[in-house]
Amino acid sequence: MKKSKTIYICQACGARYVQWQGQCSSCHQWQTIVKQAIDDAPIKTWADSDISSRTSKPIKIQQIATQNSPRINTGDKEFNRVLGGGIVLGSMVLIGGEPGIGKSTLLLQISLNLPQKVLYVSGEESAQQIKLRSNRIGKNENNCYVLAETKLEKIFNEIKQLLPELVVVDSIQTLTTQTVDSAASSVTQVRTCTAQLLEFAKSKNVPVILIGHITKEGHLAGPKVLEHMVDTVLLFEGDRNYSHRILRTQKNRFGPAFELGIYQMNHDGLAIVDNPSEILISQKDDQSSGYSIAVTVEGVRPLLIEVQALVSKAVYGTPQRSSTGFNGKRLNMLLAILEKRVGFSFGDKDVFVNITGGIKVEEPAIDLAVVMAVLSSYFDLSISQWVCFAAEIGLSGEIRAVPKIDARIKEAQKRGYKEFALSQYNKTSNHGNKVTLHLFDKIEKVIKHFFSP
Ligand code: TYD
Ligand code: MG
Repeated sequence: MKKSKTIYICQACGARYVQWQGQCSSCHQWQTIVKQAIDDAPIKTWADSDISSRTSKPIKIQQIATQNSPRINTGDKEFNRVLGGGIVLGSMVLIGGEPGIGKSTLLLQISLNLPQKVLYVSGEESAQQIKLRSNRIGKNENNCYVLAETKLEKIFNEIKQLLPELVVVDSIQTLTTQTVDSAASSVTQVRTCTAQLLEFAKSKNVPVILIGHITKEGHLAGPKVLEHMVDTVLLFEGDRNYSHRILRTQKNRFGPAFELGIYQMNHDGLAIVDNPSEILISQKDDQSSGYSIAVTVEGVRPLLIEVQALVSKAVYGTPQRSSTGFNGKRLNMLLAILEKRVGFSFGDKDVFVNITGGIKVEEPAIDLAVVMAVLSSYFDLSISQWVCFAAEIGLSGEIRAVPKIDARIKEAQKRGYKEFALSQYNKTSNHGNKVTLHLFDKIEKVIKHFFSP
């Protein structure tokens, strides 16, 4: 008889325990540990069934032949870019995002556009639903097969017959394998299914794209090891109030991380946005206060973004600080620098900062633009709409250099901006005289330059 024993597994991080406890000692989350039966029967994997002959021997590093990893061109230049130039054969890509953001739409669209034979496995929707979506996207000639199935063994059977050149799984949390005895979307199921799909991808040199759910905190659901197992992790994000969506590389073994692709969700699928700087900046003719333009670099691409700020008298006892798209702690730090080094007082003021277009910026290079937008609202004085800012602010109020400054200046110039404020420690090459560069070393000097009459 099959012997089985029970263990307790944290559903957030995958840590294992011999007895139940309320808080996971590994990831410190509460109520995430559940009882699971595991049996001692050897786990049967894709490897056992077919390709156990895969052997590898130690080899001197000089003797390894280098070859460029062959890639599938998806025909979608944003998707190609975030992957570092197309889908690498035999690689595994995980794409996460909130429900309804458009993950299924994006991948169905890519599947429909490829001349290669694609198997689109859906555990969430029926074949009819996928057909309806493909009608919306409106691509009739394609080589895409749909399989509404959640059992991994059945999926592998179909793969063996169909021999697809790309497999899309929507979503990994819906798959189950008989080799482990726990419910769908539990840590063990997700991890085992991913491991088996990975084994298939590597051994048959067929790329697999997994769609993954994210938790309410915005992390990819399932064990953290999932992110370690796959080659590339992409995040699809955006604000529901806007139609554009941002595809971001979080990890990539075959290309640069932190690349960014921008799409717009239309009634007939996702369209590529050619000029993101234009959609991220609200076109306005009037000169209102509380706005500034920052030049940020995501991956290798410079992007102009608009920072909005509102500083108003606090009506409640504790002043409010709220920041959308920019790190709230960093905003507090910048306000503290303004108080300590320049003598402003925000103790009785509410401060709101927003990066328009639903984009999130991690880069400290937009510090100066944030401070300028805040002060513009504080003084109620507008900043010329043809100035852009790119500099980090240090704790003593110094204006610090930022990387890739030439690319930033070039983008500003291309978009018709006339002035550019940066750190005097930034080395720039000659850009002609279309943009006037303003060099600063201290925040006081920037304030004096832009706000004194
Ligand atoms: P979906 O791809 O189902 O999201 P996810 O797989 O991430 O949960 O996309 C959902 C939203 O996109 C849905 O609210 C409808 C909208 N949508 C469009 O606006 N245009 C389209 O062409 C399609 C297919 C969907
Ligand atoms: Mg979906």
